[in-house]
Amino acid sequence: MSIHKDVKKITTNTLQKMKAAGEKISMITAYDFSFAQIFDAAGIDVILVGDSASNVMAGHETTLPITLDQMIYHASSVVRGVNRSLVVVDMPFGSYQGNSKEALGSAIRIMKETGGHSIKLEGGEEVVESVKRIVSTGIPVMGHLGLTPQSIYKFGTYTVRAKEEAEAEKLKRDALILQEAGCFALVLEKIPASLAKMVSESLQIPTIGIGAGPHCDGQVLVMHDMLGINVEFKPRFLRQYLNLHEQITGAVQQYIRDVKSNDFPNEKEQY
Ligand code: KIV
Repeated sequence: MSIHKDVKKITTNTLQKMKAAGEKISMITAYDFSFAQIFDAAGIDVILVGDSASNVMAGHETTLPITLDQMIYHASSVVRGVNRSLVVVDMPFGSYQGNSKEALGSAIRIMKETGGHSIKLEGGEEVVESVKRIVSTGIPVMGHLGLTPQSIYKFGTYTVRAKEEAEAEKLKRDALILQEAGCFALVLEKIPASLAKMVSESLQIPTIGIGAGPHCDGQVLVMHDMLGINVEFKPRFLRQYLNLHEQITGAVQQYIRDVKSNDFPNEKEQY
């Protein structure tokens, strides 16, 4: 029996049941109405309005510049396209790190102004007070450990995290702390598969991996990477399901030729 097929709306409880039943959770990013509508109708479990919008939508080098207002714009567009998937909205850099009051204020704005179903924030012990305060108001929180792109200037590189014992131990501790604080799920980004396995097995809440191997309870990919819109980015963990960059380039070049040669519009394409 598939839990995912049986439910009309995916909730945080559904994800919990999927973990308990050993049914994997599918998650993809989206940033606008049209793609969210396609992904939701295709049957994706979770849509993440990632702050990767800063990279793939706005063209910034990092996720740091995107603002709370911009995230709210993307998330409210996504929510209008969704009937069934659970929508998770990333809290952008600077909207929650100050203190737990500020974090709660930002989370409330996201929930009120977007209609999203939950929020995600990066970090472990450092953000636990914020997680507790947000969860206590009834807002579901997804955690994010491992490679946390909002800390890129601290890391200095996008390579695999927690290969060393000390960082791996901290990650395991942080995962338990976040679960204890009330997170309903955790993203594990770019960590060794063996560590992700240990963490996934030690937690009651589901883990969603990206570059964290096959033992997580679910997987997430950035839509521009898996659809081959962004072809420059080719990390080992990525499976590219389409080459939309090539297909779109071909279609646009054909359109240009058709316009220039007076082939478009033809008699049937006019009034
Ligand atoms: O912003 C994002 O797209 C993310 C995923 C990589 C998990 O946080």
